[in-house]
Amino acid sequence: MTIDPMKAQDVWKDVGQHVQFTVLKLNRKDQAAERETIEEFADRYQAILRSLRIRDADGDLKAAFGFSNAAWDYLFPDAKKPKELETYETLSGPKYSMPASEGDLFFHIRAKDEAVVYEAISQFRRFLKDVTTVVDETKGFRYFEGRAIIGFIDGTEAPQIEDAADYAIIGDEDPDFINGSYAFAQKWRHNMDFWNKLKTEDQEKAVGREKFTDLELEDGEKFKNAHNVASKAEINGVEQKIVRMNVPYSDPASDNTGTYFIGYSRHWTVTKMMLKNMVEKSDYLLTFSDILSGQLYFIPSRPLLDSIAEGEL
Ligand code: HEM
Repeated sequence: MTIDPMKAQDVWKDVGQHVQFTVLKLNRKDQAAERETIEEFADRYQAILRSLRIRDADGDLKAAFGFSNAAWDYLFPDAKKPKELETYETLSGPKYSMPASEGDLFFHIRAKDEAVVYEAISQFRRFLKDVTTVVDETKGFRYFEGRAIIGFIDGTEAPQIEDAADYAIIGDEDPDFINGSYAFAQKWRHNMDFWNKLKTEDQEKAVGREKFTDLELEDGEKFKNAHNVASKAEINGVEQKIVRMNVPYSDPASDNTGTYFIGYSRHWTVTKMMLKNMVEKSDYLLTFSDILSGQLYFIPSRPLLDSIAEGEL
């Protein structure tokens, strides 16, 4: 058995234009009823996506839906568990922390048309609203030229589309959960006034790349805690990659502008290593940001969603 990207959810492409991240909490009042609702939803979810793709054939609707470790334990206490699924706990370094937050069910929806994103999430909510509470809903958007809200092109060193599946999708190492993925979702609020007042040369040293051309700086030109230095993860000298699909979000009225980080990986340990390196090296991005939430979710393959729908877990 090898990875089959067609059996995976949309964990390896694409970033999208209009994006919504939704985190729900199970009410934990009636385990049997909540499990039954989720089983039905596992089928409904896929039918809703199929229907919307017919209704908006060019809309590029992409979606991923998954469970946190806490949700998995609660809903499927007798089932096997993905090998690397754990509850994300706060990571702390010498100066900064990356706090953990609650969440059971996670959705990452994106499409060319915001109406399709709205319709998808509204239909999902119809089936889930009696057993869940909303923890967070964030709408992200594609910024000019695919730049992060801090003005730099985002994703250059992430794997390109032809290779993305191998980095995002679980393979033979965990056969019961093949074609699943580990999604790490983390919401960052940036102090944009601070950032915008920096000189462009200093911003470039902080990210490790030129702002306009996106060319990488020489190592000696970067700050020691430049983002592309601090976030690097290597195992036995080999650089590790994950599939990153971060997007900006903004709620200007409440002065809340930032980046919703989403990274899909075959191995959660790789994403975790990047996060650890960032806090340990006080990544420059942390110096002007607050991290509002963070949790790990397992995104089942489509056949595993079918097994959930059949009550087989
Ligand atoms: C949330 C705020 C973040 C912003 C605005 C941001 C933005 C960027 C930008 C502009 C780049 C350079 C271009 C590229 O290679 O993509 C980059 C690189 C990178 N980022 Fe982030 N990032 C953020 C958070 C994170 C987090 C939380 C992780 C780790 C889990 C991460 C991992 C990486 C990696 C591995 C690279 C490539 C480094 C290399 O050159 O090898 N980033 N990011």
